[in-house]
Amino acid sequence: MKERLIRFGVSMEEDLLDKFDRLITRHGYTNRSEAIRDFVRKGIIEENIRDRHAGAFGVFSFVYDHHVHGLEAKLTDVQHDNYKSIISTSHVHIDNDNCLEVIILRDSAGKIDKIADGILSYKGVKHGNLSLTLSAKEI
Ligand code: NI
Repeated sequence: MKERLIRFGVSMEEDLLDKFDRLITRHGYTNRSEAIRDFVRKGIIEENIRDRHAGAFGVFSFVYDHHVHGLEAKLTDVQHDNYKSIISTSHVHIDNDNCLEVIILRDSAGKIDKIADGILSYKGVKHGNLSLTLSAKEI
């Protein structure tokens, strides 16, 4: 059954609205309502994931300088310490100095956040991104 659509007014600074229009055009939206609905759904899913105590999946990618003394040993240690939460790890040698690692995790969102934040805090880890999701039946 199709849900009834409710209209409501949104006030926004002109400059912010210009940026919003450019953003949604780049993402292929043809109207603002459709984009706002998707952004609201995305926000709600993200909140649901954060509220859960179990059953989240995380894909954590980060870039680091492998010349930094002791860093690779620390990265191996933290992954062994959390072997129950880590499903797999992939390593890419980007160039002479930098490595990309992608870790797939399965645990509570809080635990996954904690592991990712720990790794991001290491000296020599330059940039990272954590994406959280739930198994399809839980969304
Ligand atoms: Ni490498």
